[in-house]
Amino acid sequence: MKDNIISHNYQISIDDRRKKNGHNSFLLWFTGLSGSGKSTIANVVEQKLFQQDIKTYTLDGDNIRKGINKDLTFSPHDRTENIRRIAEIANLMVDAGLVTLAAFVSPYKKDRDNIRSIVKDVNFVEIYINTSIEECERRDVKGLYKKARAGEIKNMTGISAPYEAPESPDIEIKTENESVESAAQRIVDFLTLKI
Ligand code: ADX
Repeated sequence: MKDNIISHNYQISIDDRRKKNGHNSFLLWFTGLSGSGKSTIANVVEQKLFQQDIKTYTLDGDNIRKGINKDLTFSPHDRTENIRRIAEIANLMVDAGLVTLAAFVSPYKKDRDNIRSIVKDVNFVEIYINTSIEECERRDVKGLYKKARAGEIKNMTGISAPYEAPESPDIEIKTENESVESAAQRIVDFLTLKI
């Protein structure tokens, strides 16, 4: 079946779209525990880029899991499939010329390595939102940690499922020591050369 699928070459290329937009396109991948602050920081980064007339789009775990990935659970196998699909979607968005932001727990190193190979190393910026499990549990914005401790949620990252921290992320944010505004600005500053 695969042998019968032949890619069509379209005339408008990623370079054409980047040139027209006046900026580069790439993927900013935010990884960290649930409640670590990924979406909050991504939201401020996107607003800052948007104000500079940069074309952006944000993919977010909680939203995607209500739509295209609503068939997936939090088992290791389904998390891998979740991240694989997002990586493919993000790759299309980068190809479309967008600075794409993605906020997913993405707890497995091999899955994050797979994103890097799908979108290509040069288009991938890994941002580790490093908030301790104690702090995430204290914040418990969505009440999920309480439910996990009560045994109502299985496979909760940080409680009953692993989180493999990035070893050499492009940017690391320790939210217990840095404000959202400062973290977002640091990310935008890092991107200046890349954009
Ligand atoms: S991932 O592990 O597959 O990357 P994803 O980022 O899509 O996870 O979804 C995580 C979000 O789902 C969390 O922010 C949280 O709101 C919710 N959630 C529900 N159950 C779990 C669970 N068992 N582990 C982690 N997050 C969960």
